[in-house]
Amino acid sequence: MSNVAVIGSQWGDEGKGKIVDWLSEKADVVIRFQGGHNAGHTLVVNNVTYKLKLLPSGIVRKNKISIIGNGVVIDPWALLDEIKQLEKQGIKITNKNLYIAENATLILPLHKELDGIREDSKNTDKIGTTRRGIGPAYEDKVGRRAIRVMDLANKDNLSKRIDMLLFHHNSIRKSLGKKKIDKKKIIRDLEKISKNILKYSKPVWKKIEEFKKKRKKLLFEGAQGILLDIDHGTYPFVTSSNTVAGSAFAGTGCGPGTINYVLGIVKAYTTRVGEGPFPTELKNEIGNKIGIRGKEFGTVTNRKRRCGWFDAVLVKQSCFISGINGIALTKIDVLDQIKDIYVCVGYKLGRKKIDYLPSALKDQFRVRPIYKRFNGWMKTTKGIKKWKDLPENAKKYVSFIKRYCGVKISSISTSPKREDTILLENPLKK
Ligand code: GDP
Ligand code: IMO
Ligand code: MG
Repeated sequence: MSNVAVIGSQWGDEGKGKIVDWLSEKADVVIRFQGGHNAGHTLVVNNVTYKLKLLPSGIVRKNKISIIGNGVVIDPWALLDEIKQLEKQGIKITNKNLYIAENATLILPLHKELDGIREDSKNTDKIGTTRRGIGPAYEDKVGRRAIRVMDLANKDNLSKRIDMLLFHHNSIRKSLGKKKIDKKKIIRDLEKISKNILKYSKPVWKKIEEFKKKRKKLLFEGAQGILLDIDHGTYPFVTSSNTVAGSAFAGTGCGPGTINYVLGIVKAYTTRVGEGPFPTELKNEIGNKIGIRGKEFGTVTNRKRRCGWFDAVLVKQSCFISGINGIALTKIDVLDQIKDIYVCVGYKLGRKKIDYLPSALKDQFRVRPIYKRFNGWMKTTKGIKKWKDLPENAKKYVSFIKRYCGVKISSISTSPKREDTILLENPLKK
């Protein structure tokens, strides 16, 4: 039996949702372990599109358990809206198929507001966040003043916790010239929704322990991507959680032995939303063409994603940092009509050649890509389901990525649809 972690291996939006949905046919439990509703995971099933933010992608399938682990930051209002939206699309969500960790941190409206204030301020670097309050909520978690799911169950305790939180936030707000937060209003607002959230709440680590004993197959669904990791990403242009596979253990409460296969989701080119360094960015016609063909607009914020060539240096680095056992390569069809395709195989930093992205931000902005050229295949790969049917030049491109990164290619995705996937090795069957 094999439990799998699906990890975005670039700057997010690699197609994790599609791959998790596809793999979840063979899994019993799908688990989110970090991030929040900054994530936007798209699934296309029988021509119906689902956009998931907080809910694990397994939720659309019958007879699967979906878990939101303690490492996730939960905006309870956003979660209830998302549940409603999916119910409108015919998905049944009850406390039998959705569990939420009782020790997960909540995102409150004050977090969202602070995120926006910082983004709009002229005094700090704009990160280009999703403005969902993700960063401020994680700060409060680490600052030991967060409100957690189980706090909703006890009025006295909730009141005390909110005092602690507001002691901190109201002093910041005062210095920013913002109105004090009204404690009574927060409590009233939380009371209105607490029953609806608490009904899903459980000690999920214990549930996972039970599932492990019953040898159920677990699928851990990462959000964002390794280059957005708070430690290993392009800091400070990152999200506020660890996005690497190692985060799955702390973010759910299961030991490192639980995961037997780390599947890195890798887009056949590179995209990024928000600010920050992007060595292979194409600010030209080709970049636009990739963006249009790939429909590269943010699932959450609808912002235009920046597009560029495949950066093999970064993906190789991600593979090592996250212990990736196999790559699921996505969106190869987007490159179908490009005559000359380039892959970054090294950087120049001044006169020096280097084979990794340095951690100093200044250098990350300064590196110049060294490219290797590939002949495009100029044929459609859309919907191909077998390796043998890929054009020769596409095979060469994929084989190079495998060789350069030193990691097997487990699958190749050729359209947004669940079934349009070339399977080379099923991680869940190993
Ligand atoms: P995630 O955040 O990693 O789950 O990715 P998103 O859902 O934000 O963005 C990926 C986008 O690409 C979605 O619109 C998917 O429907 C789409 N997609 C996924 N795989 C493929 C593929 O192989 N080809 C094409 N053309 N689109 C894909
Ligand atoms: P999925 O799971 C792409 C980016 C934001 C911003 C930075 C910090 O769909 O791949 P945050 O709101 O997290 O504080 O923003 O991280 N970002 C993502 N980019 N895909 C995502 O999620 C992202 N989640 C956050 O654009 O640059
Ligand atoms: Mg996304």
